[in-house]
Amino acid sequence: MKPPELPEYDHQVKHYSGPSLEEVMDMRKRHLTPALVTYYEKPLMIVEGSMQYVYDEKGRRYLDALGGIVTISVGHCHPYVTRKAREQMEILQHATTIYLHPNIAEYSRMLADKMPGDLSVCYFVNSGSEANDLALLMARLYTGNYDMIALRNAYHGGNASAMGLTAHSTWKYNYPHSFGIHHSIAPDPYRGPWGRDDPDAGTRYAADIKDLLEFATPGRVAGFIAESIQGVGGTVIYPDGFLTAAYDHVRQAGGVCIADEVQTGFGRMGTHYWGFETQGVIPDIVTLAKGIGNGAPLAAVITTPDIAHSLANRIHFNTFGGNPVSCAMGKAVLEVIDRENLQQNCLETGAYLLEGLKNLMSGHDLIGDVRGRGLMTGVELVKDRKTKEPAKDECARVFERTKEMGLLIGKGGLYGNVLRIKPPMCITREDVDFIIGVLDAAFGEM
Ligand SMILES: Cc1ncc(COP(=O)(O)O)c(C=O)c1O
Repeated sequence: MKPPELPEYDHQVKHYSGPSLEEVMDMRKRHLTPALVTYYEKPLMIVEGSMQYVYDEKGRRYLDALGGIVTISVGHCHPYVTRKAREQMEILQHATTIYLHPNIAEYSRMLADKMPGDLSVCYFVNSGSEANDLALLMARLYTGNYDMIALRNAYHGGNASAMGLTAHSTWKYNYPHSFGIHHSIAPDPYRGPWGRDDPDAGTRYAADIKDLLEFATPGRVAGFIAESIQGVGGTVIYPDGFLTAAYDHVRQAGGVCIADEVQTGFGRMGTHYWGFETQGVIPDIVTLAKGIGNGAPLAAVITTPDIAHSLANRIHFNTFGGNPVSCAMGKAVLEVIDRENLQQNCLETGAYLLEGLKNLMSGHDLIGDVRGRGLMTGVELVKDRKTKEPAKDECARVFERTKEMGLLIGKGGLYGNVLRIKPPMCITREDVDFIIGVLDAAFGEM
C-alpha cells in the first residue's frame, strides 16, 4: 500500500549547513547528560519548523502532531509571535522585576482576564516544574498545613517538589522527595475500578481522597493538585464530577485546589479555554506552562489576591520570570488564539480527529481505547481487549513506523502503550486525514 502523503504546504525550507546528525549525536553522547532520551531507533534531528510542520536536516517535512510535547500551541515560528519576539529582542531582552516594564504588567492583565472567579494575580516563572513548586509553596504558606494530595499516574515535573507530586515510577529517582505527599487512586475510567458506564464513578474515585485525608494526614491539608487531563499518564480523562467532589473534600480539610493546566490550557479542549472548566470547577491556584509561550521559556502561577499575599512576608525572586521577550511572546499567543479562532478549531478538528481514531478501532484489535477532548487525544494499545494487557512493544513499533511515514506523535502511560496526539492548535482536516491514514497503515502492518 502506498503510504499517505502529507498535505501540500507552501514553505521554502532553508538550506541546512550545520553539523550532521551523527556529529550532533556524538556531541550529545559525550557532553550532555545520559539521563536525556531521544525518541526513535534512529533519532530525528529537527532544524526548522513552520506552523504544524517541522523539517529535518535534509529538508524532509514531518507533521508535528505532538507540538514539541504540547508546547507549540499556535504553530512553529508563528509569524506574529516571531515578529513580536524579534521586535522586543531589538529593544530590551532582560531587566528583571526590580524595574517596571509594560510587557509583564499588560500580560498579567490579559491572562487574568482569561481566568474565572477571583483568579487575578500572576507570578511568572520559566517552566511547569517551577510553577508547580511555587504553587506548592503558596498552598503550604497560605493554609499553614503541610500535607498534599496528588493523583497516581500524574506528571507535574522534574524538580524535587514536582517529582514528589508526580506518581509514575518512570520519573521518580530513588531519593527522598515525596515527604507529606499522598497519592490518591487515578480516576482512570479505562483501567480503574469504575468505568464510563458508572454514573457515580467521579464521586467514587474522589472518595479515596476523603479516605486519604482521614487515614494518612492530620485531617488538615495544604491542598490538592491535579492535571485537568493526565497528559504524560496517557491522556486520562476523569469521569464527570470527579474534580467537584475532590475539591469539596479537600476544601473541607482546609486545603486549596491547584489545577495543573500545563498541557490542557489555552483553548486546546475546544469546548472551554481551560481544562478545569470541563469539570465545572474553579481552582484556587492554576499553573501554566508549555503552550503558554509557543516555545518561549515561560510559565505562570495564577491565584487569588489572598493566596498570592501569602508570599509577601518575604521576598521571592525569579531572575528570568516574566522577562520582556517571553511576555511579548505570551501576549502574542493569547492574541493569536483569539484572532485565529484556534479554540474553535480545536473543537471542530479535534472532533474530526477523535472520530477518525475511533473508526480505526473496528479494523485494528490492538486499539483498546480511544479518548480525547479537543486536540488532546490518546490511543491505548492492548494485546487483548478483555485483559487489557498493555501492548508496549507493538506501540513502540507503530510509533517507529509513523515517523518513517512522516508523522510525529508522542507516547505515554505508565506502560508506554498510549499514543498521544496533541498537535499545534492550527492543524487542518487534511492533516487529520494524514494522521488517520498513517496510523491505519502502521496498524495494518502489525
Ligand atoms: C502536566 C505537566 N505539568 C508540569 C510539567 C513540567 O513542565 P516543565 O517540563 O516545563 O518543567 C509537565 C511537563 O511535561 C506537564 O506535562
